[in-house]
Amino acid sequence: MSVAKQATRCLNGVKSNVAVVLGAQWGDEGKGKLVDILAEKYEYCARFNGGANAGHTIIANGKKYPFHLLPCGILYPHTKNVLGNGTVIHLQTMFEELKQLDRDHINYKGRLLLSDRAHLVTSLTIAADSKSESSSKNQFLGTTKRGIGPTYASKMNRYGLRVGDLKNWDTFLLKYKYLQAKFSEQGVNAGSEEELQEIKLLRERMLANNMITDTVVLLNEAIKSGKRVLVEGANACLLDIDFGTYPYVTSSNTSIGGVCTGLGIAPHHIETVIGIVKAYTTRVGEGPFPTELNDQHGEHLRKVGHEFGTTTGRPRRCGWLDIPLLRYSHMINNYQSINITKLDVLDQIDEIKIATKYTINGEEINFMPSTIEELSQVKVQYTTVKGWNQDISKIRSYDKLPQKAKDYLSTIEDLLGVPVSWVGTGPEREAMVLKQ
Ligand code: GTP
Repeated sequence: MSVAKQATRCLNGVKSNVAVVLGAQWGDEGKGKLVDILAEKYEYCARFNGGANAGHTIIANGKKYPFHLLPCGILYPHTKNVLGNGTVIHLQTMFEELKQLDRDHINYKGRLLLSDRAHLVTSLTIAADSKSESSSKNQFLGTTKRGIGPTYASKMNRYGLRVGDLKNWDTFLLKYKYLQAKFSEQGVNAGSEEELQEIKLLRERMLANNMITDTVVLLNEAIKSGKRVLVEGANACLLDIDFGTYPYVTSSNTSIGGVCTGLGIAPHHIETVIGIVKAYTTRVGEGPFPTELNDQHGEHLRKVGHEFGTTTGRPRRCGWLDIPLLRYSHMINNYQSINITKLDVLDQIDEIKIATKYTINGEEINFMPSTIEELSQVKVQYTTVKGWNQDISKIRSYDKLPQKAKDYLSTIEDLLGVPVSWVGTGPEREAMVLKQ
């Protein structure tokens, strides 16, 4: 194989030893599908951040798998799946998802490994999340109320519960009671004997199946011995706790740095970073959204794109593709290539706009500003591309895409300076076009 061909395969994520797939916008870009496609070629599939607040939907073998916690590689019998130290795990939710695999006779024994350093989401942190979101005194952030924020906060406050604590039930009990007391001081009265009994049963299943392990050692040894690792991002760059539209963000590092801290692997091991970019922009919850469409175009995108949250069912806000945001996201993650998803959703639009520039008080700014106050003030300049007015959902090769769709893709490549390697033309696993 020629060097150029090998490089292309690397950019496409097909060939690298360690490849990372990251959401480039505000989440729900459709990361699950590419991860699912690539996972076939990888021995390990690892999640490094977030918890059941993410929602990957995979449609495989005619079945829909709405995973919130399980890494997408779980559908392939040869893949080991890791929930890394940077994730936060609600065991009850994870075992619910495993039930669907049981029903479909997908064997996950020895293939699902939880970091002993990962933190546990419990009814305590879920209650704290609900309380914080419902309180009129607090700023409403639009969280999924899955306990993610308070679990990360407990981790930082150093009284969190870790998966490894489950190895010894007495230790776990002591820590659970301590956490209960800490939350009670904050007026959150939750946790129960029932929950403890539930966790105890799940713990026994995990211990019997050797699910709890030191995944830092596991992954590093795997990389050292030439095994291939696919890293699956959850949430997305603009929801990153440091780089996102703070405070309307999630509580973890969703971008490239989070891969290293959330799995314990060094940066130089990472060969390929692929950004997942929806062909337009969506966001859930509050916060500024410069290209938001509060008109029939926004309604059209929501309806055709089924833009309703997998985790909460909330309608997503929709808008045109935003290059200044993507430029910023690319600066942080340095994508070698991107996967444009949901291109088919634009099939019936006569004129498609792409945001090219922001100005504030008449002055051009190249990147997303750091404060939401400034981001709410930006004026957006657009370029317009002609729509293709054709159903592309059955197209499976790049050559067969209408020229106007190709023009849309090359406009994005030119404006962003990153090659498009994959194009999503429909929700199914097969509806993905590889652009060589
Ligand atoms: P988060 O991690 O929560 O941000 O989710 P995600 O990025 O993994 O998104 P998800 O996998 O839930 O995808 C969102 C939806 O888009 C799912 O219903 C997918 O089936 C669908 N989808 C993915 N790619 C395409 C595509 O190319 N076209 C269409 N029409 N739907 C797609």
